[in-house]
Amino acid sequence: MTSSRAERHPTADPSWQALQTLAKRAADRHLSIYTDETDRYKKYAFQTCGLCVDYSKQKVDDEVFDALMALAEASDFGNKFAQQCSGDLVNQSENRPALHTMLRTPQELQAAPYQETINLAQTKMFSFVDRVISGEWRGHTGKAINHVVHVGIGGSHLGPELAVEALAHYAISNLRISFLASVDGHCLKQLTDELNLEQTLFIVASKSFSTQETKTNAHSLRSWFLERTGSVAALANHFVAVSANIEAATNFGIAEENVFEMWDWVGGRFSVWSSVGLPLALSIGSQNFRAFLQGAHHMDHHALNTPTENNIPALMALFEAWNSTFLQKETHAVLVYDHRLRLLPDFLQQLEMESNGKSVHADGEELTGFLSAPIIWGGEEPNGQHAFHQLLHQGTRKFSADFISCKQPDHHFTEHHNWLLANCLSQSQAMLLGRSDSDDKDALPSHQCVKGDHPNTTILLDTLNPQGLGALLAMYEHKVSFQSMIWHINPFDQWGVELGKQLSLSIYKDLCTLSNNTQLDASTQGLVDHMNHTNS
Ligand code: F6P
Repeated sequence: MTSSRAERHPTADPSWQALQTLAKRAADRHLSIYTDETDRYKKYAFQTCGLCVDYSKQKVDDEVFDALMALAEASDFGNKFAQQCSGDLVNQSENRPALHTMLRTPQELQAAPYQETINLAQTKMFSFVDRVISGEWRGHTGKAINHVVHVGIGGSHLGPELAVEALAHYAISNLRISFLASVDGHCLKQLTDELNLEQTLFIVASKSFSTQETKTNAHSLRSWFLERTGSVAALANHFVAVSANIEAATNFGIAEENVFEMWDWVGGRFSVWSSVGLPLALSIGSQNFRAFLQGAHHMDHHALNTPTENNIPALMALFEAWNSTFLQKETHAVLVYDHRLRLLPDFLQQLEMESNGKSVHADGEELTGFLSAPIIWGGEEPNGQHAFHQLLHQGTRKFSADFISCKQPDHHFTEHHNWLLANCLSQSQAMLLGRSDSDDKDALPSHQCVKGDHPNTTILLDTLNPQGLGALLAMYEHKVSFQSMIWHINPFDQWGVELGKQLSLSIYKDLCTLSNNTQLDASTQGLVDHMNHTNS
């Protein structure tokens, strides 16, 4: 059987070769040459779902754009994305669909096999949320809950914490929400030092219910709780779980009615839309959580139904692939000009790097001759301007960047907001142009020259509300999907994290028993001996 055009090695497509040639030409052209194009913003800025996304500072001209459209065609964007959203087994290595989009599809449009289970899970979740917020749900001594501790890591942590922080101004409950992710005992100590157990609710969120960090934290919290209450029955008032492994959750001691269901067809890093989003729902209430789902659904609709040339996440994927694969930008900075979105870089690190940080194609063949996903990093701005921007402006590294801000602030300090936006725009402009005035440049000593020529995108939310956040996160999810189609990668598995997990188990045993039963390399062995010596 001959493979279809879309299944062939991506580098074999003529559009790929065209882009390679164009990349050589682009290397000699400074981004500032595009400043003469006065209609550039009109051409490359797009608006949908309360977002304005400006790609006009990307190193793209008509020829590059056309070649990128051909690449999208060769990568079969339209069909593959439709297949993903309709439940095809797109996660081939685990033989599963990736149906996070179904969770935010209006009920009447959900596919039959999923409709009932999603509906049941959402009804259970929202009824629980209403009971906790209203004070109907009580701790074992009869007091209402005022503190929620969410225990989970990776996809069971990053999305919920980001969303709770980003939408804190939408909180309708007086619940304090804390997160416990790392297995570092200092985190546990800090948390338990200030817990009032009578009014605390613990959510143990783990799709697999086997993740070491979450298991260890959950067990320690349960022991801590039992030592103080002496009552196993009281656990039911204070511990709930979110998991696809209901048996493991109930074996841990969580009452079955307190387990909120997840499914293997939703990947951890795409799961904030499920009951994994409980802390968000407990903070902003059921109605706002529905608005969050609705915002994401609008972006799904846009991504599914908009031609590539106007499709915001598809363009984002193409421009980023152009940067990393063809222009060899090794890192991509996420520069957030809104304090409320300060956790976005952490969330995107998992979403993008765990999804597309791969070096084999979906069919198992090695990926050769090009770079796939860049390293994602970033931070809260303008703080970074006074820390790492020096290297961005005058260092030797190649990078691309996203600038993210919000038009409407949630405060009345207009002067502050205007400064914030001015900083956002001036930094993106400096990365575009550098110091390019030729008269000035001749006069400038070299240590004052700024090269510029760093492609960047600006993403501006109208307001940071539940819909807007939903749309923003869904946009990045779809960027990941479209990029995986360009590189022929399966973005829905994460086998690379398994090795470290396995190795830690045997080293853990050696540390616990002060022995050295494990065959280790000299460096690791030396460190184990040193640690065991210190521990003894
Ligand atoms: O370490 C990788 C990973 O499997 C992530 O993909 C996942 O989000 C995280 O661990 C947590 O997994 P779980 O929800 O099963 O505890």
